[in-house]
Amino acid sequence: MPREVRHEARSPEVFDSSDLGEDGQLYICRCGLSSNGALCDGSHNATADEEDGVVYKYEKDDADGSRRPIEGFEFEDE
Ligand code: FES
Repeated sequence: MPREVRHEARSPEVFDSSDLGEDGQLYICRCGLSSNGALCDGSHNATADEEDGVVYKYEKDDADGSRRPIEGFEFEDE
């Protein structure tokens, strides 16, 4: 259940204590769909029913948008 997500940032993101959750922990997004930079905003819930072995593309990389299965990833040097 991988997904294609476009990232355009070219620099690191700095975190401070204001980024900590109510439990004092820092939640880093791993699904790539967060609208809150590198911090989890709950968008990963949209991926819960993705099927194993299928690659998905979310419209505008938005968890609230539609998604479709894609053939896979294409790399220029292949
Ligand atoms: S892991 Fe990506 S929004 Fe939570």
